[in-house]
Amino acid sequence: MFESLKPVAADPILGLMAAFREDPRDNKIDLGVGVYMNDRGQTPVMDAVKRAEAKLAELENTKSYQGIAGDAEYNSRMLELLFGSGHSVLGSGRVKSLQAPGGSGSLRVGAEVIRRARPEAKLWVGTPTWPNHIPLLGSAGFEIEEYPYYDIASREVNIDLMLETLRKVPAGDVVLLHGCCHNPTGADLTNQQWDQITDIALERGFVPFIDIAYQGLGDGLDEDAYGVRLMAEKLPELVIASSCSKNFGLYRERTGSITFIAQTSEQAEIVGGQAMSIARQIYSMPPAHGALLVSLILGDETLCADWKAELEEVRQRIISMRTLLADNIQNNAQGVDFSHIKRQKGMFSFLGIAPEHLVRLREEFGIYIVSSTRINLAGINSSNIDYLANAIRAVLK
Ligand SMILES: Cc1ncc(COP(=O)(O)O)c(C=O)c1O
Repeated sequence: MFESLKPVAADPILGLMAAFREDPRDNKIDLGVGVYMNDRGQTPVMDAVKRAEAKLAELENTKSYQGIAGDAEYNSRMLELLFGSGHSVLGSGRVKSLQAPGGSGSLRVGAEVIRRARPEAKLWVGTPTWPNHIPLLGSAGFEIEEYPYYDIASREVNIDLMLETLRKVPAGDVVLLHGCCHNPTGADLTNQQWDQITDIALERGFVPFIDIAYQGLGDGLDEDAYGVRLMAEKLPELVIASSCSKNFGLYRERTGSITFIAQTSEQAEIVGGQAMSIARQIYSMPPAHGALLVSLILGDETLCADWKAELEEVRQRIISMRTLLADNIQNNAQGVDFSHIKRQKGMFSFLGIAPEHLVRLREEFGIYIVSSTRINLAGINSSNIDYLANAIRAVLK
């Protein structure tokens, strides 16, 4: 049987990570990997998570099955985090949220439900988008269309072309949007642009599918949810995939949520049931540990305040690395403008330098950056910033 299988093409990011690991240089820098790192280059367990784990170890009295929709308290606390406690949609009965395995599992369940509801719907994704969106959502069976998102020349959202394309999206199609901290570009929609897109969605009758994997890492927990909250208030239908991988640092615990807003509470019940039947077909039930931790943190005033303070430190560190890098390399021999790095949000930005510069950074300096030039700002710290900035200036001579 297996003799018919061909080897899978090597993943360029994994290849880069492997090359980084094998590089013997002490001063090597990994700007490719997509996880948060602190100033010591570590991806630590958050203190609030550690304390919740201690509490859970005491409280937990069974490992029996939890149910297809996951932990009910987690589901309701995640809705409050996403929408804010006073949001009009919360008491409407039109919302259903299920715990799912990470942002990725949530995206997939959302995609499968949409495919069941409207198999002819096309999925519109921005160019560029998180590379895994295409295989993850495309393999649910969607025909994928693209809308322009980022303008390489101006290093801004290509809003005119994006809106022009969205104005042509047929009613009933689905448009994927990044809730905040766009991956890979870091170029986010302004509140005014969210307003415009919401109006177009209403006019055209397409359904937005929002992927929010970085709530709290851009402008703040509430600020980052502007688009989600606006669309939830104004639109008849909405699908949202959210993740606790980054804002709770729970990557390997696979903790996420898929949330549906339907036109009526009856429809919301049916959508929830369909989502559960899909989950049952693919993985049966989500893992419990991460969601129980999130639920303990969000449900305890002190733990929640401490988690928010830790997350704020993460956010501020990323902003300060953005400023430090941009200011340090702005003055370069080729006059390349890096000021976009300071304007953009979240962990990523495109550095926007030529492929030959990337090769030199890797070969001469041990600095690893993926070919799109996407850099993880959290890979920068007080020990490597001078070396990094000098190296970038050197290859731009
Ligand atoms: C845009 C985006 N969506 C979703 C995810 C999924 O995250 P996870 O499945 O690890 O929760 C990521 C992770 O990098 C991401 O960048």
